[in-house]
Amino acid sequence: MQTASTLHDDRTGVSALGGLGAQAPGASGSLLPEIWMQDGAKRVEQALARLLRAEDDGETELMAAMRYSTLQGGKRTRALLCLAAGALADTPAHMLDDVAAAIEMMHACTLVHDDLPAMDDDVLRRGHPTVHVKFGEATAILVGDALQAHAFLTLSSLDAPGDKRIALVRELAQAVSAEGAAGGQAMDLSLVGKHVELDRIVAMHRMKSGALVRASVRMGALCAIAEDAAHAALYCALDRYSASFGLALQVVDDILDATADTATLGKTPGKDAAAQKPTCASIMGLKAARQFVPDLLRDAGEAVAPLGPRAERLAQILQRANAYLFKHAPCA
Ligand code: IPE
Ligand code: IPE
Ligand code: MG
Ligand code: MG
Ligand code: MG
Repeated sequence: MQTASTLHDDRTGVSALGGLGAQAPGASGSLLPEIWMQDGAKRVEQALARLLRAEDDGETELMAAMRYSTLQGGKRTRALLCLAAGALADTPAHMLDDVAAAIEMMHACTLVHDDLPAMDDDVLRRGHPTVHVKFGEATAILVGDALQAHAFLTLSSLDAPGDKRIALVRELAQAVSAEGAAGGQAMDLSLVGKHVELDRIVAMHRMKSGALVRASVRMGALCAIAEDAAHAALYCALDRYSASFGLALQVVDDILDATADTATLGKTPGKDAAAQKPTCASIMGLKAARQFVPDLLRDAGEAVAPLGPRAERLAQILQRANAYLFKHAPCA
C-alpha cells in the first residue's frame, strides 16, 4: 500500500506546516483504506438519513425526492475528502459526519440541477432515473433549492463556536457561487459547440467541480485547524492537493463519458460528444487525457507528503482514484 510517506519521502516540511507537530507513523489511527472509507461513507449516509428526515410522520414528496437524490449511491468522494482532511487533527467525528453530509447535500444539489432538461438533460444518475424523470421538473428544481438550504442549515446548527460555523458556511457558499460551481456550469453551457484552448477547459473544470472539491478538503481541515498564519503552509499544501485532485476527478469523468458503458457509469455514456461539449478528453485526445490523470494525482500526493502520516488518508484517496481509473479506463 502506497501512503503519503511512500508517495514522497521528504518529511522535512513537517515543522514548517503550521505547528501541528510530527506524529509517529500510525499515530493518526492507521486503518486499512477500505475499512475507514466504508465506515466513513456509512456514517455520512446515516447522517444524511437523519438530517433529511421529516420532523413528523408526513413525509412530503419534496422530502422523498431529496432523500432519493442523496441516499442512492455515489462514490462519496467529497465526503471522504472532508473526513480525510479532518483526520489531520483531532476533529470530533460527529462534527465531521455532519459537515461531510452537508457537502454531499450540496453535491447532490449540483447533480440534480446539472441533469435538468435545461442543462445536460440526463435521464440516468447513479443507476436510477434522474430526479426530474422520477418526480417531475418542478420538484427537481425545488430539490436542488431545498438541499442547498439544508446544507447551510446543517452547518449553521453544528455544535461548534459561531466563528467556526460561519467559516464553514462561507466556504461552502463560495464553492457553489458565481465564482465556483454555478459560474463553472454557466461557462460549460456557454462553450457548447465551440473549439476552445485547453486552459479555458481547465479553468472551467476548476470552477464547476474543482471548487467543491477544494471546499470539501478545506472544510474538513477547518473543523479543527484554524486558518491563521501558523497554518498558512498547511492550507497552501491542501490547496495544491485539491487543485490537482479536483482536476483529475473531472478529467476522469470526461474520459469515462467517452469510453465507459452505462453499467459502469450509472449515467448515459457519450453525452459530452452528443451535446458538443468541449472536454479535456476532446481537446487533448483520450490518450493524453488518460496520461494526464496520474500526473495530477502524483502532484496531489507530493503536495501533502510533507504533512507526514497524518495525511495518510488524503493520500489513500488518490490511490483509490488511480485504481478506479485503471479499472475503468485501463488503456493509455
Ligand atoms: C460527478 O461527480 C460530477 C462531477 C463533478 C464529475 P462524482 O463522479 O463524484 O459523482 P458521484 O457522487 O460518485 O455520483
Ligand atoms: C457536472 O459535470 C459538474 C457539476 C457541477 C455537477 P458533468 O455534467 O460532466 O457531470 P456528470 O457527467 O453529469 O456527472
Ligand atoms: Mg454538466
Ligand atoms: Mg452532466
Ligand atoms: Mg460528465
